Amino acid sequence: MTALLELQHLSKSFGGLRVTDDVSFTLSSGDRVALIGPNGAGKTTLVNQISGDLDPSEGRILLGGVDVTGASIAERVQGGLVRTFQVTRLFTGLTVAENVALAVMQRRGLTKRMFSSVINRADVREEWQSILGLLGIAQLAAMPVTKLAYGQQRLLDLAIGLAMKPRVLVLDEPAAGVPHDESPRILEAIGKMSPDIAILMIEHDMDLVFKFAKRVLVLASGALIFEGTPAEVKENAAVRTAYLGSYADARRAS
Ligand SMILES: Nc1ncnc2c1ncn2[C@@H]1O[C@H](COP(=O)(O)OP(=O)(O)O)[C@@H](O)[C@H]1O
Ligand SMILES: [Mg+2]
Repeated sequence: MTALLELQHLSKSFGGLRVTDDVSFTLSSGDRVALIGPNGAGKTTLVNQISGDLDPSEGRILLGGVDVTGASIAERVQGGLVRTFQVTRLFTGLTVAENVALAVMQRRGLTKRMFSSVINRADVREEWQSILGLLGIAQLAAMPVTKLAYGQQRLLDLAIGLAMKPRVLVLDEPAAGVPHDESPRILEAIGKMSPDIAILMIEHDMDLVFKFAKRVLVLASGALIFEGTPAEVKENAAVRTAYLGSYADARRAS
């Protein structure tokens, strides 16, 4: 079976600093993979290259066997490669339903000029209602985004990602900033997504990683240092050292 997403020897340097260092891995349909690593390991930089926000210095990215290394963000989204952001980007002047409807329309190539009429168009409405229902936030449909609690904003982020009909979904710290007792809601929402979607989740919270992932990739100083099951990662000495090193750094800095 062709991998849905394949990274081949991806590298990225900023000046002399090699922030992504020869990273290769594949994601297949149904994968639930976590990418972990200490702060500054290069996780977000890697995601930015996958999504097309950043050009790699070397290496290739294949989507469904097609080379998309030079493709635009929009072309990748059209191909089913969708990411959410560590920092929420929402249209604050609009309601929850309008934000999701806008994403549905964007995917379908409907213009914003038609926005006022299209939000109530049966086929668009059907889609945003079904997505909000799936994520358990149907009751928030008419709520202005500015009134949402932070955890609800993150769920809306996921809803917008789903509106793009992803084949590969990359989540950059979906529970970051969410109160700890609310993070299970995020996990629950991810758990309800179509089992066919390949999901790559960057996450700090190891509880979440262990509940979500079947496979874990560990990044340190831009390079993949380990790949295994959550249990294997927990036991691995190199992984412990990478994390202990970062904690030691954090203590020195504070
Ligand atoms: N645009 C940039 N220019 C220079 N250095 C950068 C840039 N973006 C990120 N970096 C550096 O790359 C390293 C990895 O950052 P990042 O990908 O944000 O790590 P993570 O998401 O794992 O915390 C850090 O040392 C950071 O300072
Ligand atoms: Mg990051």
